[in-house]
Amino acid sequence: MFNKRVKIKELLATEPSGQEVIVMGWVRSFRNNQFISVNDGSTNNNIQIVAELGLLDEETIKRITTSASVKITGTLIPSQGKGQKVEVKASVVEILGDSDPEKYPLQLKNRPSLEFLREIAHLRFRTNTFGAVFRIRHSLAYAIHKFYHEKGFVYMHTPIITASDAEGAGEMFRVTTLSPDNPPKNDDGSVNYKEDFFGRSTNLTVSGQLEGELAAMAFSEIYTFGPTFRAENSNTARHLAEFWMIEPEMAFYDLEDNMNLAEEFIKYLIRFAMDNNREDLEFLAQRLAEEEKQLPQDKRSEMGLIEKLEFVLNNNFERITYTEAIDILLNSPAYKKKKFQYEVKWGVDMQSEHERYLVEKHFKKPVIVTNYPKDIKSFYMRENEDGKTVAAMDILAPGIGEIVGGSQREERLDKLLKRMEEMHIPAEEMWWFLDTRRFGTVPHSGFGLGFERMVLFVTGMTNIRDVIAFPRTPKSAEF
Ligand code: 4AD
Ligand code: MG
Repeated sequence: MFNKRVKIKELLATEPSGQEVIVMGWVRSFRNNQFISVNDGSTNNNIQIVAELGLLDEETIKRITTSASVKITGTLIPSQGKGQKVEVKASVVEILGDSDPEKYPLQLKNRPSLEFLREIAHLRFRTNTFGAVFRIRHSLAYAIHKFYHEKGFVYMHTPIITASDAEGAGEMFRVTTLSPDNPPKNDDGSVNYKEDFFGRSTNLTVSGQLEGELAAMAFSEIYTFGPTFRAENSNTARHLAEFWMIEPEMAFYDLEDNMNLAEEFIKYLIRFAMDNNREDLEFLAQRLAEEEKQLPQDKRSEMGLIEKLEFVLNNNFERITYTEAIDILLNSPAYKKKKFQYEVKWGVDMQSEHERYLVEKHFKKPVIVTNYPKDIKSFYMRENEDGKTVAAMDILAPGIGEIVGGSQREERLDKLLKRMEEMHIPAEEMWWFLDTRRFGTVPHSGFGLGFERMVLFVTGMTNIRDVIAFPRTPKSAEF
């Protein structure tokens, strides 16, 4: 029976008294034909197995190689060596699965690069870095449910396949069962989607928000947490074609309530990781510090990872309007010295270089930017009195840029219809969405937090491909 095994994390915290234990895991290293370091993914710390000379025959010794899987029966004793409290004195060493050292691609001796590890993403979980990242990712996912559950929000599963483009940006992956080579055609030569599986053209969702709004109109407060898909051709360290998003939607919330919730939520997640993943965070902090030693002085972060997280927890996010943000940029030394590549003027969509200037150089902390020009935002955002801006809010984080996008929603039917017409969004197809504005409409708000960007922020990793198990990006869908 396998279930008698004790996880290594638990073993390392157990008082040793010579009790019999069973350990299973993968070999990380084997020294002097005697000391086997074993890891089972419960922690980055390995347990040391000591096989007294003579216990292992020649054949077994040959088979104890990096990443072979083993079952060890032995007794838990105080460690003779430095660095750990306990070790296991083996009585039986069984090889569960061999790993040919000539063929195993992950040799840990010379630290493999993150780029190389991406090519062997199926094995990279077995490194300390990815062990730490994915335990933290798990922890944050759990904390998301805990946070909203404790506030009485209802978790909604919004559809993955939809016929609408929630963001109106047209960056959708089509879902179809029609033959790509010979699809049925209409008389005018266009594809006849009436013959498609759903009898219409469908796509993978870019956001669960619109369906979330429907549910918020009954439960008051809901959230979604699921995969979303965007066919935007952005090959950057911040964009994925498949990413996870958390989208709370709340009736009876205005823009300020919305910002307050978003700030509280982000801080809760950071606190949760600090309280529950300390060891992994410390490992990643050290990793980051070492990585930064390679960089020139002015490219290094001013704070270590833990320090940065503490700082975010202990300070209010800066709150400014879009108009103020543009003024700051126009008056910045960077602008005057023509350091920005993209244009700065009222009305432009801020580029990542502008967002990063605001958070990293100017305020040096997370910033919430509100009241954007309506022409650069989605149709559903509530129009402000000035007729030019909408009640939008984006949260920008140091090292990340935009981490949250949200708004108060346009709850006034006439204004919403007018805006949809201006933006060429077909109202007939959105009858169900508009019904919420017909039957008991209320002021309401919501936002979307990009989960991978949040994981990036907490782990201090710098490429989004390294915080999702199997990244989907332009020209890449391996595994
Ligand atoms: O700003 P976005 O596009 O907002 C929405 O989708 C709204 N429907 C949210 C809402 O109000 N309910 O996306 C929200 C967040 C961004 O701030 C960013 O963190 C993340 O989702 N995001 C991405 N993350 C990784 N890869 C991409 N391609 C992303 N696009 C957006
Ligand atoms: Mg956005």
